[in-house]
Amino acid sequence: MRVRGTRILHPALAFHPRPRAGRAARVRPAGRRAHPGGHRRDNGPVNAASRATAATASSSSASRPARVLPRASVLPDFPWDSLHPYRARAAEHPDGVVDLAVGTPVDPTPEVARAALTGAANAPGYPTTAGTPQVRAAIIEWMARRRGVEGLSEAEVLPTIGSKESVALLPLQLGAGPGDLVLHPRAAYPTYDVGARLVGAIPVPVDTDADPATWSLPEQGRVAMVWLNSPGNPDGHVLSVEQMARIVSWARERGAVVVSDECYAELAWEEPWASRGVPSLLDPGVGGAAGREGLLALYSLSKQSNLAGYRAALLAGDPGLVAAVTEVRKHAGLLVPAPVQAALVAVLGDEEHVEAQKAVYRRRREALAGATAAAGLVNDPASVAGLYLWLGGPAEMSAYDLVGAFAELGIVVAPGDFYGQAGAGRVRMSLTDTDERVAAAAERLRSTELFRR
Ligand SMILES: Cc1ncc(COP(=O)(O)O)c(C=O)c1O
Repeated sequence: MRVRGTRILHPALAFHPRPRAGRAARVRPAGRRAHPGGHRRDNGPVNAASRATAATASSSSASRPARVLPRASVLPDFPWDSLHPYRARAAEHPDGVVDLAVGTPVDPTPEVARAALTGAANAPGYPTTAGTPQVRAAIIEWMARRRGVEGLSEAEVLPTIGSKESVALLPLQLGAGPGDLVLHPRAAYPTYDVGARLVGAIPVPVDTDADPATWSLPEQGRVAMVWLNSPGNPDGHVLSVEQMARIVSWARERGAVVVSDECYAELAWEEPWASRGVPSLLDPGVGGAAGREGLLALYSLSKQSNLAGYRAALLAGDPGLVAAVTEVRKHAGLLVPAPVQAALVAVLGDEEHVEAQKAVYRRRREALAGATAAAGLVNDPASVAGLYLWLGGPAEMSAYDLVGAFAELGIVVAPGDFYGQAGAGRVRMSLTDTDERVAAAAERLRSTELFRR
């Protein structure tokens, strides 16, 4: 398949989050141990499934046909497995490990959520897919108050079981299929790519910060979906109303749906977004006269409300799209548990805990931004919101070299390669360890020479 001069691999081959052989050891600081990650292949679904299929084939006798399932998966290796050795090395630090790799919240779930959850613990009947009237009203009210999206109707909102399932399953739920193009940001949460592969569609990374007229696309296949992620994971970039409006009109000209994953929207650190707020795809300035047609926005309570363990999220937008998604979810039994719906209502109605959590993350971000800069690392200047620093090091250090150097300091971070080729030479550092651990990381970083060349 040709992309104006660039070759796009078959989807099953295009995503390679593994470290490249030889890089980590080459820039190891003198006198230090080799980075423990090495270049082992991890045992992700592709390999596991392929092995299973091969084993079945070899054990099948002449009289029995080879078993059909499981078929070799189209999924990439699960990237986090490749971090095990770095974690083990970091854990050897005498003052203990600081885990800033996965963006999993560590602060307590707010009381307002716990009370609502336990108050709704008696739930013998099935919840509805569309959610209780209270949850829908809470989403509508929150979208108007916090996201500047007025006038949503009940048909335009839906609670979901966390937002990762939407990211992975929306192409399926909206009917994308083999040969369709699913566009997503260049440096991106890997699940956009995975969701496309699961339906046989073709994931295509594009620079969503840029004018879509500059995007390189495969010559074959129709653009079915465009994913936006603002603020971005891992890069912390925020898209303006004007940038999103340009992408929306480009997509509408092609009959494509635009979906924006906005799960870090409450975590803006720098101006103008800190005071103005991060705009939603559903902002009236984005959709123009056609309003929310062809548009969906996702939001998650995992980060703003420390609710990742509850699996509570929502989507909103074009009622035709919401209806299509609801229909599939009904058939598939994708229902948000009733106590979680009650917690969702409670946290959407309370701003105090969000402000308090935001102050905690602001402090941690300042500590880590200062310490990484002192160590010689450079945060992406456009990383102005969200839960991560997006750090580059000396030109000759690969992402895994950087991960290895961090492991020497007892700190675990994620290699930029997890997020696509745009992550080469970078690491993602999350703000999600305790204040005490973040202070320990900051101290270690301030006194290291590991990132200086
Ligand atoms: C960009 C992005 N989207 C979606 C998710 C999924 O969040 P959850 O499933 O907890 O709602 C994450 C989690 O880290 C994320 O970074």
